[in-house]
Amino acid sequence: MRKLKWGVLSVAKIGTVKVIPAMQRGERSEVVGIASRDLGRAQEAAQALGIPKAYGSYDELLADPEIEAVYNPLPNHLHVEWSIRAAEAGKHVLCEKPIGLDAAEARKLLAARDRTGMVIQEAFMVRGHPQWLRAREIIRSGAIGELRAVQGFFSYFNADPANIRNQADIGGGGVYDIGCYPIVGARYLFEQEPRRVSALLERDPVMKTDRLASALMEFPGGQASWMCSTQLVGYQRLQAFGTKGRIELQIPFNAPPDKACRLFVDDGSGLGDASAREELLPVCDQYTIQGDLFSECVQEGKTPEFPLEDTVRNMEVIDAVYRSGATGQWVEIAV
Ligand SMILES: NC(=O)c1ccc[n+]([C@@H]2O[C@H](COP(=O)([O-])OP(=O)(O)OC[C@H]3O[C@@H](n4cnc5c(N)ncnc54)[C@H](OP(=O)(O)O)[C@@H]3O)[C@@H](O)[C@H]2O)c1
Repeated sequence: MRKLKWGVLSVAKIGTVKVIPAMQRGERSEVVGIASRDLGRAQEAAQALGIPKAYGSYDELLADPEIEAVYNPLPNHLHVEWSIRAAEAGKHVLCEKPIGLDAAEARKLLAARDRTGMVIQEAFMVRGHPQWLRAREIIRSGAIGELRAVQGFFSYFNADPANIRNQADIGGGGVYDIGCYPIVGARYLFEQEPRRVSALLERDPVMKTDRLASALMEFPGGQASWMCSTQLVGYQRLQAFGTKGRIELQIPFNAPPDKACRLFVDDGSGLGDASAREELLPVCDQYTIQGDLFSECVQEGKTPEFPLEDTVRNMEVIDAVYRSGATGQWVEIAV
């Protein structure tokens, strides 16, 4: 099978450590170039990862006619700007989450997609992992009754001021970085959009980024609640509660590429998980799946399952969380 030729903007850790090696194992994706603001850094990464071409600027990569698709893992404030530049250079774009700093920015990217005709997608790799597909399948089957509540948690501890997550002026903060996952998770499992959101945010006194967040989301079918933190012990979990059963995703977001993920389905008849049935999912790398699904859309002319319209909706929820955190008020989300 002919592979789609990818170029990568920057030597970002997520790209060099996880996404590029995973895409290189894909059936449809081939990484042919990597760019950095510093040629030496690009060359070093290219050599380490077996990538044929290195460029000393992002513009040079975009000017290379061999590159068909771009993976954009730049800091959050550069996502939309460089994704638009890539699309205008005739490249399809897979851009890291969150797509930008607010929904207004996301809409600019949507307009650029419509103007250029390129495939542009936000890189929420979790939605291609079999454990998310399975959870949604169980809910759709009615096996847990009527889905009424989703609960999520995502945390890590990182207080390094040099890390992009801890720089407020370039899109740092916990909700942008990880709160976006339970938002995507609740929307994915309910298959609905929330109507309103309430949030409590605590900011780091020095770095000014949100370091602890709690949010409530009201959906037509029920409620979701989640917490995220950049300065707590690392933990993650996602649960869906129906009228007759509960589904628990043990590692919902950073699913390991070399171990089977576990999902629990519990009818609640026994306490302390006594009635929980375990389902083991096939070992897979969600970043390989993400790359191949995107390449397939480009090669076969398919629309991504979660197009940029969905991304704009997700960003509207993130906006509402930040607005509610700032005002202490519920924030309505226009449908
Ligand atoms: N989907 C996931 O699982 C996942 C996981 C982690 C992160 N992410 C997302 O991926 C993106 C990158 O995260 P990361 O932790 O990998 O970032 P990182 O290691 O800090 O890399 C960001 C890269 O952006 C480039 N850059 C350009 N302008 C910059 C600036 N003003 N400040 C800092 N870097 C700048 C740098 O590359 P050059 O020096 O080469 O130009 C840098 O290596 C974020 O949007 C994050 O939300 C996604």
